[in-house]
Amino acid sequence: MSEAGLTRPPPVLAIDGPGGAGKGAVSRLVAGRLGWHLLDSGALYRLVALDARQRGLGFEAEQALAELAARLDARFQSQGDQTRILLNGLDVTEAIRSEAAGDGASRVAAVPGVRQSLVERQRQFRQLPGLVADGRDMGGVIFPDAALKVFLTASLEERALRRHKQLKDKGIDVSLSALSRDMVERDRRDSARAIAPLKACDDARILDTTGMDVPAVVAIVLEWVAERVVP
Ligand code: DC
Repeated sequence: MSEAGLTRPPPVLAIDGPGGAGKGAVSRLVAGRLGWHLLDSGALYRLVALDARQRGLGFEAEQALAELAARLDARFQSQGDQTRILLNGLDVTEAIRSEAAGDGASRVAAVPGVRQSLVERQRQFRQLPGLVADGRDMGGVIFPDAALKVFLTASLEERALRRHKQLKDKGIDVSLSALSRDMVERDRRDSARAIAPLKACDDARILDTTGMDVPAVVAIVLEWVAERVVP
């Protein structure tokens, strides 16, 4: 190996896209197949939102939210192919997946100070043999030198259907039309914000997953990794 090779930082695969595009499932499976670490950055914003709610902090308290994000007591514990997520020592793995937590996450994620507070914490996930980084600004801001950036999309109808099924499987009953409306609203908020908007990086490869199942998407992403990432 060359000297430059010895100092090369661990490779990163950045996966972004709107809600319901399959980022979470695809990232987890690809990380498992590669034996790489996984950063679920959305979970960090969900944790900040949950912590803020538990402390009675409103979304307008930007400075306090940024401080809370900087001190966030969050732990990710791997258990086989599952990860348990602890906030202030309590298991919130399921609680942060609710629509309310997702909505709160979208709001705190629009606060520049909160994003800034989470930058270093996210970069610490970059460890050998590599990292799959799932979330909004992974390729644009946190890991601009990612070896591969993938932007997953799917039609709104399909994204809403997938999310609906996910929630139903967890015993959470929401109407498809309400979900679809919320999704449009969240996409709008995430796309319109000044900082780290929902948008594919210029150097991202875009994959429209409409009509594809998760294994098919995983297979394509793994092919792209094999092309891009020198072992
Ligand atoms: O991917 P997710 O649904 O868990 O993300 C929750 C919210 O957080 C969503 O509105 C997008 C936002 N987010 C972000 O702004 N930046 C990230 N790196 C990850 C998520």
